[in-house]
Amino acid sequence: MAKLSIDTKHPRFPVAPDLYGLFFEDINRAGDGGLYPEMLRNRSFEDSIPPEDCTMEENDFAFTNDSGWRDIFNHGEGLTRWIRDNHTAYTPIPAWYVEGGASIALNYKDTLNQKRRVSLDVCFGTGFVFNDGFAGVAIDAGKAYNFYMFAKNVEGSGVLSVSLEDREGKVYDKKQFTLSRTGFVRYDAVFVGTEKRPDCRLVLRGDGKVRLGFMSLMPADTYNGHGLRTDIVEFYKGINPRFLRFPGGCVVEGFTYQTMQYFRNIVGPVWERPSHLLLWHYRTTNGLGFHEFMQLCEDIGVEPLYVCNAGIVCQGRSRDYLKGEALIDMLDDAIAAIEYATAPADTKYGAMRAAAGHPEPFGLKYIEIGNENGGPVYFERYKLFYETLKAKYPDMIFVANTHVENEGLETDIVDEHFYSDVNFFAEHLNHYDNYDRKGPGIFVGELAVNVGDNGKLRAAISEAMFFVGMERNQDIVRLASYAPLTQNVAYPAWFPNLVAFNHYITYGIPSYYIWKLFGKYRGSEVVPITEETSLVTRPAKGMPSMQGTYGLKFRNPTYNGAPIEPTHELLGYVEKDGDGWTTRKGDDTQAPARMLARFGMADQVAIVLGDDEETKGGVFEVEVLAEEGKTVAIGAYSSRGARSFFDDGEEREHKDWEYRFVHPYRWVIENGESRILDSRRALTEAVPVKLKMGEYNTLRYEADGEVLKVYLNGELVQQAHLPTRQKTAASATTSESEVIVKIVNFSPDPEDVEITLDCPVEDGYTLAYLAGDGDAMNDENNPENVHDVVTACTGASEAFTFHAPANSANVLILKKK
Ligand code: AHR
Repeated sequence: MAKLSIDTKHPRFPVAPDLYGLFFEDINRAGDGGLYPEMLRNRSFEDSIPPEDCTMEENDFAFTNDSGWRDIFNHGEGLTRWIRDNHTAYTPIPAWYVEGGASIALNYKDTLNQKRRVSLDVCFGTGFVFNDGFAGVAIDAGKAYNFYMFAKNVEGSGVLSVSLEDREGKVYDKKQFTLSRTGFVRYDAVFVGTEKRPDCRLVLRGDGKVRLGFMSLMPADTYNGHGLRTDIVEFYKGINPRFLRFPGGCVVEGFTYQTMQYFRNIVGPVWERPSHLLLWHYRTTNGLGFHEFMQLCEDIGVEPLYVCNAGIVCQGRSRDYLKGEALIDMLDDAIAAIEYATAPADTKYGAMRAAAGHPEPFGLKYIEIGNENGGPVYFERYKLFYETLKAKYPDMIFVANTHVENEGLETDIVDEHFYSDVNFFAEHLNHYDNYDRKGPGIFVGELAVNVGDNGKLRAAISEAMFFVGMERNQDIVRLASYAPLTQNVAYPAWFPNLVAFNHYITYGIPSYYIWKLFGKYRGSEVVPITEETSLVTRPAKGMPSMQGTYGLKFRNPTYNGAPIEPTHELLGYVEKDGDGWTTRKGDDTQAPARMLARFGMADQVAIVLGDDEETKGGVFEVEVLAEEGKTVAIGAYSSRGARSFFDDGEEREHKDWEYRFVHPYRWVIENGESRILDSRRALTEAVPVKLKMGEYNTLRYEADGEVLKVYLNGELVQQAHLPTRQKTAASATTSESEVIVKIVNFSPDPEDVEITLDCPVEDGYTLAYLAGDGDAMNDENNPENVHDVVTACTGASEAFTFHAPANSANVLILKKK
């Protein structure tokens, strides 16, 4: 039984008006072929062009930038699993195929305009050419599709037929054009589907030779007629968002100077926008550009939050950053974006906006300077951007992508990102309780369970625990958004994503319904609550382990009194050495060398001992030879944890036991100090400890599933409680007529919550909730397996008991009397 009492008479602060929003990034082919519903893949024919300043591997399988970051390319098809799972047949020009003696070739000389790097030369012979879209061109009966192409005749009659056909050659609609020889000309047509088919293709037939400069096929029916896919936009609207952060994410940063995002490259006629390779493994034609994002914001009534590049290439992938004139040019580009959004139509950028169909300014409330940048390189650039932009646009709200206030820099809001497992979100309910109330405000710009329970209801409920913490602190937590937002199920580059789609359906993962519930029922004032609930210790299991500098000698390991031996080498390896073992340095095949170096692990060896992965605790003892300069650590609860989506390697088979997936609680003795850590943080203060140098020391832990006690040579050194979390958590807001109570039960058991209010409420109330099996998921075959439920209930009063189902997030909308 949990207890919750709500004090509606003493509001703490108003709710943050823009708290829940959207973060769109073009990942998983969420842009072209998705929200921007282009139906032809590689409509600019540029997909196979290798990125500049990169070294290509044989057959353009992969490339490496000059900082050593490598990505899979597959001559422009993207990830190997996309090719495999979509049964994509080889073609040198992705998505374009020939049959019956036709041929195609890229033409680098005669292009549509200076921004287009190639055109496509098609020689028909007796054959034909087709584009198979994004794993198929999907059409529907009675639906219209707008087609255009820039083309010219080179040889032959110039008569070109374009048709929508299935693989057997059945034609669903067909148009004929006579191409001019004088230069590229735009030709338009409207196709109408006669049947619902997911697997059509756009087929071109002709004689002689034609040259194609750029093409497009798009549904005529789009959201508000503004070119975006209606069902995806409806899903976005479903969470009652208050802002849209765009366009990234890492795509803003790019992986080379050439792939950094500039506003100037994502405005204007789409065929004049340069395409570029995204670091999510495919090229975008940038049809979904600045104007389209701004229009979307206007159409769904949300505040735009534009992320500009801060003059830095993605620091996780590159060491490059802009200086001097190039940096000023990037700053000017950010100013141009703001002008485009806000300046009157009689200015340079206002006129561009007007030419694109929007004479009135859009308005721009938020601007974020950079994405996930840090260090002196960022602080210097942030200062330049902030001071320049703030002076010019004093009313805008500025977001820094890290805690710049700790460097003495000014900002309005700081963007924090959290990707982790369910334990992290459930255990961080109180994360914001002690933040400085003076600010800066917080934007939880990216958050998601992406390790372990990805896409499951359990993940959604753990995120809801974190939301409760945000709601209780919305005097400083001003904005929040899930990441990533959207996925074409045929092209997964990251999982999970809040909204998924294929040709015909769009659906939300369980987390989507949490955003929907929390976004819809807001109230106007946050009110104090007191709660009593039980604490749950983070579950732990697994065997002893050891970690330390290579060359460590140890002997006589025992577990619960019985001898045990090394069983798994996670980093490096062990050699039998007299009556014990010595750890030896491994090679780079065990874990990516870069990762080890980055985390200061290059000289570390880690092994697991024993073979009972399910053990829930016990006593481990081992004798270790202490030597100057060597770190020594022993680990409790060493078992194989969940792999993240990214660990499903494109090329190399992963070992069954790998360092990255084994996260023991570690007792570390280093530089005369002892501390106990979980995989992320210290669970104890450091205390001084003395190893007997040059001698074997006995290290021991006792672990009972709750507390970890560590002993050196028979003496207790320190102990740590394993992390705990609340079983249930609640927050409350009020409006003039309602009390809105959110109760999350992050446990596999139902829980009764005794609610006490200081005001009378009506017996009847509305309950909106999400609950079910923790493992439940949604997919394209069962898109609403998990979804929210809204129901009318009775039994509310000043003191009543609410029955919170297992794995549930509940919103009680109580009516004040
Ligand atoms: O959401 C996916 C990526 O995660 C974003 O691009 C980046 O900001 C973060 O690292």
